[in-house]
Amino acid sequence: MKYHLVSGGCGFVGRNMVKRLLQTTSDTVFIVDDLSTGIHPSRWFPSYTMRRLGEVEIIGTEERVYFLKEDFRDFLFRFRHEPDFIAKKWIPDFVAFHDVYHFAAIVGGRAKIEGDPMMVALDLSIDAEFFHWVCTHKPARVLYPSSSAAYPVNLQTSQGAVALKESDIDFEKNLGTPDMTYGWSKLTGEFLARIAARHYGVRVVCIRPFSGYGEDQDLTYPVPAIAARAARKEDPFEVWGTGKQGRDFVHIDDVIDCIQLLMDNTGDGSAYNIGSGRLTSFIELIQLFCRFAGYSPVIKALTDKPMGVYSRYADMSLMENRFGWKPKISLEEGMRRVYEAACRRISEE
Ligand SMILES: NC(=O)c1ccc[n+]([C@@H]2O[C@H](COP(=O)([O-])OP(=O)(O)OC[C@H]3O[C@@H](n4cnc5c(N)ncnc54)[C@H](O)[C@@H]3O)[C@@H](O)[C@H]2O)c1
Repeated sequence: MKYHLVSGGCGFVGRNMVKRLLQTTSDTVFIVDDLSTGIHPSRWFPSYTMRRLGEVEIIGTEERVYFLKEDFRDFLFRFRHEPDFIAKKWIPDFVAFHDVYHFAAIVGGRAKIEGDPMMVALDLSIDAEFFHWVCTHKPARVLYPSSSAAYPVNLQTSQGAVALKESDIDFEKNLGTPDMTYGWSKLTGEFLARIAARHYGVRVVCIRPFSGYGEDQDLTYPVPAIAARAARKEDPFEVWGTGKQGRDFVHIDDVIDCIQLLMDNTGDGSAYNIGSGRLTSFIELIQLFCRFAGYSPVIKALTDKPMGVYSRYADMSLMENRFGWKPKISLEEGMRRVYEAACRRISEE
């Protein structure tokens, strides 16, 4: 029996990863999430049932998911003091985690990244504890989600915007300035991942997802928020900044596909882009959702709101050339799914 650990498994990417692991493996998944922003499994686990074992909730009739509500750092501290505590407390045959997916992080939309950068900087402490633990526990495979926010912001301005390629971050030559403390913590995490791989022999994959989105994403993120406002036919339609700023939107199902591909094929600590390679401005996104909703509002720019960098999109040639990978879900199809989910949510209110 294999046990996989998913930190932050009640967040957006984590929930989708857990569901996929249950579909594609016969293994058991151990989730640690403090629910600071995450959603309790009772609200997203299909056919939810639960049996309590001390602090842990064992979920589902097959009992393949264990959920512990705890700060991930406290969970890692426990290993330091009592390395076999999981076997003693909950899973007698437990020896070590096989795969570890580390999604516990203080994230959020632009309001959080620019509004409370020191709160976000706590990611540095989560990741430092994490990589220290990884190098002692030695799981078989580790996923570290970095972010497109790690790329230098001077490559993302209105004058100098380029498709961001993996080599634009080069620890030997050029790092530039990443996007606020969020990007800085991700860059540091990537550096720790390289050290874990090269000095401690741990198999680690780093990913740089661009703007991941999906039907079950929190409304503090722009895609579901814009979809919900279009479904309510907001007019005038407000956009943060000028609305000309663009992002590279990639559906969560494609993100999870790509993670599984990379976990099976790499592990030296190098980082890979996960995007579509296409730049879409927020005005274009609003127009798409309003087309689904069948109306054409006036777009009102809120120039006092934070808008982040001007242009952030991926050069996907490395993923295409090395692994033949491209996202399967088009922007139109993915956003249509988000729009329909927003309409369902509104009709249930
Ligand atoms: N969603 C994206 O498009 C995207 C893009 C780039 C990178 N990422 C990275 O992927 C990871 C997951 O992102 P997400 O979108 O799922 O975010 P999210 O906020 O939905 O999930 C993070 C989860 O971590 C939990 N958490 C936070 N601090 C914790 C702690 N100290 N201990 C235990 N749990 C804690 C939260 O409760 C939440 O459930 C993050 O590292 C993020 O930077 C995501």
